[in-house]
This record gives sequence, structure tokens and C-alpha cells, in this order.
Amino acid sequence: MTTSEVWGRQQAERYDANQAGMYAPEVLNPTVDFLADLAGTGAALEFAIGTGRVGVALTGRGVPVTGIELSGPMVAQLRQKVGEAELPVIIGDMATTTIDGEFALVYLVFNTISNLRTQAEQVECFRNAARHLSPGGRFVIELWVPPIRRLAPGQQIVAMDVSDGHASFDTYDLVTQQCISHHYDRDAEGTIRYGSGGFRYVWPSECDLMAMVAGLELESRYADWRRSPFTSESDSHVSVWRKPA
Ligand SMILES: C[S@@+](CC[C@H](N)C(=O)[O-])C[C@H]1O[C@@H](n2cnc3c(N)ncnc32)[C@H](O)[C@@H]1O
Repeated sequence: MTTSEVWGRQQAERYDANQAGMYAPEVLNPTVDFLADLAGTGAALEFAIGTGRVGVALTGRGVPVTGIELSGPMVAQLRQKVGEAELPVIIGDMATTTIDGEFALVYLVFNTISNLRTQAEQVECFRNAARHLSPGGRFVIELWVPPIRRLAPGQQIVAMDVSDGHASFDTYDLVTQQCISHHYDRDAEGTIRYGSGGFRYVWPSECDLMAMVAGLELESRYADWRRSPFTSESDSHVSVWRKPA
């Protein structure tokens, strides 16, 4: 039983339109370049493949991709783009679902390790990645650095976006490392729709410890897919751990 929220049909149907910015070539191309480079001539496994934003593009680059995804409706959207034979997906929890075969690359992008809301499940997710890697293979994560430096003293709320048609706020529990993102969307008629999502935020150093528990070694950490240096000002990281050969 996972603590992840299971994304429903409405969320799935809106996902690609809502995330249009994540499909922009300047965002997606460096992601796919980076992953294709690490996969080399091997196969890749995407945890939480969703509607196939990255997986479909990586398949198009000649990398055999398999996915694990919790939400049936998200996979239904992916299936409108690509068939089962070209990109197989297993419905299940990325922390515990296993599939046959060994992979040169396992990857988990767009902050999604945080959708597992306990430390134990996040550790299991690292272990599951390690389990599917061939010796010398890599596990790659793209993850935000928790922006709690932006919390005013005594406050638990950070404004993430206040723009035309959308406002979002994150609320933090600093004891349990839980975060809830609250989104308010206003449509053309002025109707406001509210949605929220719960996460467990995790620091890069805690990721390294989880990787160590899973028998993986940190190989590199960048601020983004273009391999910019990761610094104390970086608000996100792309990290690569390697399974010893
Ligand atoms: C932000 S979307 C990312 C989808 C895709 N990787 C992308 O980059 O567009 C998060 C996805 O994670 C999936 N997810 C959340 N928890 C999961 C879990 N425990 N196991 C597998 N998939 C999960 C959700 O159903 C959703 O499709």
C-alpha cells in the first residue's frame, strides 16, 4: 500500500495541457539528451512515467524504455501516443513493483520521489531502482531543493506563484518533512478551481544516504539537465548514482 495519491481521470486528461511548459523543447530536449547519453546502447526504466512526456521522447531517440506508473488514467493518456509493444508500462508502485530484465538506466524526474510521503518508501524506491540496474548502471533523479529558506520566521507558508489565472502556495511541516501544495486556477468565466497535493520533501544529502543504503554511489550532481554546476543557490538538482560494476 503506497502513500502516494493516485491521480484520477480528470487530472490525467488535463496533465499535458497544464504542463505545456514542461514539453517546451528548451526543457524537454536537454532532459532527453542527458538520459539518452547515459542509456547508451542499453535499456531504460522510467519510474512514474505518467503520460509519457519523457519516456515517449526517449523512445523516439532509439532507447528502449519501459515504465512503471501508479495511475491507470495517466497510462491511458500515454497509450494515445504510443502502443504497448513500443513502450511497455506496468501499473504499480515504483517503490515495490518489479519487472523482468536489467537496465542501464533507471530515472525518476519532475520531483516525483517526493510523491512517496514516507522516508521508508523513498528508501524502498532507491532500493527498487538498484534492483533493476545492471552493474555499472545509473539511477537519475530530478528533484527540487526544498525552498524552506523562503519561510518567514514563525510562518509555514511559501507563495510559489501568483500570476494571472493561477496562484499556488506550499505549506510546510518542518518536523515531518511534509509539504502540501495548494493550487487555485481561475478559468475564463472567473470560476476558481482548487486542487492540492501532498509531498515529503527531501534534501540532496538525504538522497545520497538513501542511495548508500541501496548500494549506489553518487557519480555527479548538477543544477539542471544542461549540467550547470550545483551550488548553494540551486533550487533543483539532477543527481546520478551508479551501481558498482
Ligand atoms: C509530476 S507527474 C510526472 C510524470 C512524468 N514522469 C513526467 O515527467 O511528466 C507524477 C507522476 O507520478 C505518478 N506516481 C506518483 N506516485 C507514484 C508511485 N508511488 N508509483 C508510481 N507512480 C507514481 C503519478 O501517477 C504521476 O503520473
